[in-house]
Amino acid sequence: MNNTPPVCNYEGSDYQTSFWDEGGREYEDRAEAIALKRMLPKSGKLMLELGAGAGRNTPRYAGFEHIVLLDYSTTQLAQAQQKLGRSDPQGAAPKYIYVAADIYRLPFRDQQFDAATMIRALHHMADAPKALSQIRNVLQSNAVFILEFANKLNLKSILRFGLGRQNWNPFTLEPVEFVKLNFDFHPKAIRNWLEGLGFSIEKTLTVSHFRLGLLKRIFPAKFLAALDGLFQPTGSIWQFTPSIFVKAKVEEKSNTKANGVPFNVIELFKCPECNNQNLEEKNDHLYCSTCKAQWAIRDGIYDFRERTNKVV
Ligand SMILES: C[S@@+](CC[C@H](N)C(=O)[O-])C[C@H]1O[C@@H](n2cnc3c(N)ncnc32)[C@H](O)[C@@H]1O
Repeated sequence: MNNTPPVCNYEGSDYQTSFWDEGGREYEDRAEAIALKRMLPKSGKLMLELGAGAGRNTPRYAGFEHIVLLDYSTTQLAQAQQKLGRSDPQGAAPKYIYVAADIYRLPFRDQQFDAATMIRALHHMADAPKALSQIRNVLQSNAVFILEFANKLNLKSILRFGLGRQNWNPFTLEPVEFVKLNFDFHPKAIRNWLEGLGFSIEKTLTVSHFRLGLLKRIFPAKFLAALDGLFQPTGSIWQFTPSIFVKAKVEEKSNTKANGVPFNVIELFKCPECNNQNLEEKNDHLYCSTCKAQWAIRDGIYDFRERTNKVV
């Protein structure tokens, strides 16, 4: 049975347009692009983008042969398809594979991916360690995981706390839910969770040093982002910005599995309900012969959120 934490629902949301395209966030977008470039491997085989949304960052992963865009919202994925192109999901793996699923219940076989990113999505996780452990399971030995998280220990929250204008303490390790299903995390808590799961942390970059309305009005986004780029490496010493990027690597284990690309897309998946690895491809769904679940394939999206048939 599905007893996972609640999901922050973006179904039908105009997030990409209202927050990014028309929301005055060119500076943040450019600063993130700089951080990603510093952390991404030049090339790779199979990338998992968690909470991909409308695919804002996906073109930045062009060095990868195949990219799985995973998001809970099918309308976000449909926007990503419009931007990146919709590929025929049947048969040999296309460049982009669209998957609607819950990060807490990933529908992938273990150790499939040689890289993963999660940008601006951890802040919706009420149980971050649970989400991170799901991600760890699907990564190969030596895989790279790039995680962005919202930092509770940012200058603004420290100031507000010091002035008595904020009732939560930015220095303590527990996450803070500042709006329903929106969480800020302490950098040390993130490090502890990642290391506890067998990741080693290779790089930490602080991002969005100049996220201030006044500065953004005075200076061009390109200039502010370039300046941000100069400061990002200070993340290895201290982290007081609202956004932090961490590059973590799965520590090598003896049971390294080779990644067999090109592959059949279906070989990526497992049944998220019973973990059966041998799903059968039917006309418009994947079928699990163990628990009899059917998982829809609709409009070029593999949908693992809810089985389409009743539990028998
Ligand atoms: C703030 S948006 C970020 C989108 C994209 N990464 C970006 O930076 O432009 C967060 C995304 O996470 C997705 N999301 C939230 N909770 C999720 C969950 N439990 N499983 C899968 N996706 C989730 C939402 O649907 C949304 O598209």
